[in-house]
Amino acid sequence: MSLTKRLFAVRSVDSLVRDLDSAPPLKRVLTARSLTAIGLGSTIGTGIFILTGTVAANHAGPALTLALLIAALGSGLAAICYAELAAMIPVSGSAYTYSYATLGEAVAWIIGWNLTLEYLMSASAVAVGWSAYVVNLLGDWGIQIPDALANAPLMKGEGWRFARTGAIVNVPAMLIVLALGWVCYVGVRESSTVNTIMVFIKVGVIVVFILAGLAHVDTSNWTPYIPPNTGTFGEFGWSGVMQGAAIIFFSYIGFDAAATTARETRDPQRDLPIGILSALLISALLYVAMAAVMTGMVPYQQLNVADPVAVALDAHPELKWLGGFVKLGAIIGMTSVVLMSLLGQPRILLAMADDGLLPPRVKHIHPKYRTPSVATAWTVVLAALIAGVFPLDILGELISVGILLAFTVVCVGVLVLRYKRPDIERPFRAPFAPLTCTLGAAISLALIVSLWNETWLRLVVWTILGYSIYAAYGYRHSRLRHERPSANGGR
Ligand code: ALA
Repeated sequence: MSLTKRLFAVRSVDSLVRDLDSAPPLKRVLTARSLTAIGLGSTIGTGIFILTGTVAANHAGPALTLALLIAALGSGLAAICYAELAAMIPVSGSAYTYSYATLGEAVAWIIGWNLTLEYLMSASAVAVGWSAYVVNLLGDWGIQIPDALANAPLMKGEGWRFARTGAIVNVPAMLIVLALGWVCYVGVRESSTVNTIMVFIKVGVIVVFILAGLAHVDTSNWTPYIPPNTGTFGEFGWSGVMQGAAIIFFSYIGFDAAATTARETRDPQRDLPIGILSALLISALLYVAMAAVMTGMVPYQQLNVADPVAVALDAHPELKWLGGFVKLGAIIGMTSVVLMSLLGQPRILLAMADDGLLPPRVKHIHPKYRTPSVATAWTVVLAALIAGVFPLDILGELISVGILLAFTVVCVGVLVLRYKRPDIERPFRAPFAPLTCTLGAAISLALIVSLWNETWLRLVVWTILGYSIYAAYGYRHSRLRHERPSANGGR
């Protein structure tokens, strides 16, 4: 087989579905409702509680709501494409497996590699945000954690270099990753139950904020809706709205986590599309309503802080009592994002090991808990180390662009498979395809372009690292390399 043929060899949908029957069984306990909760659990966190303030104050003004809607449209179209593929190929690998079935091994590898940004890195990034909120809340209660033990020892330095901050390690961020990692290790049912409780609390906090804040909205704060551009690209005006959409896109990352639990879902073909689409719709509605109320309660210029929701409440003395409640909701919100990210990553690794692209040990299923224990342990240890050492900005920058790339590939994948395999049964079909898929890919690409250069450069370095690992291990051990062509039946 030529090198190009090898790199672009696809796993057929039939062989993926056939393999499911012989794979070691995981516990099938999840329903459409728990999948929606998993989606919401991974989605509502740092984005809505921290980034909304930055985007309103520096990029979009009151048009934060528009930026959220544009990001929701991009994510929504990708979600529809995810739903078609998830129902058709109900395996744990999410976008990784879908691209293996449509665009070939080399693309699949890099998408799987980029999904580690979504899960492993997000877990670390959100744990760092969690640590900042917790240290702040403990401070309100008179408990001081020394700065050296609650901050990253590294920060951005000149160009590519890192500089020392003087801190030793971010202990709270590491502890939350290790504690939640243990929950993932002992069982998906436990993780799902803990998550559902946290989702109820954080959605409750947002709804209370919207209802309480509504009476205090001053509509004059919404004008001008799109403040004029300052002369710099991305600072207000339309370029600000688009750059704001690319940054706030981080808030929607995670809705697809449900797709990684396909092997633990009772009726994946029915429940996955419902879970994925409901999670996205509910989070988009909550975000837009919350952003409209927040930018109506105070002039947007005041929101450039780490706790914009608390600032909006503090501006209205009769709502001050809600401040502590919102901080607690934000902490719980971020806790469930970390939990769900730690749950998603091992399942992607499992799918990659199943295909021979990672060592077979990664596939180990715990005899008692029936969870991918080795992949979970690797994920948790790595995420804890990253959370202990790196600050939020370095981690956050890399994440969005990696996910947008995965979304683009998922949208293109639906088109490719519709053309190559129109015969396969599709329990859920993306409506108005190919328009939906084309528009989904176009919006994701437009958002990638709106992101700044440094992120692009980091993505290139990340990609080179990923392909080096593939060349050293995956390329030689890939199952496709050892199967007869008829066995995988790729077309
Ligand atoms: N969407 C997740 C958050 O906003 C990653 O925290």
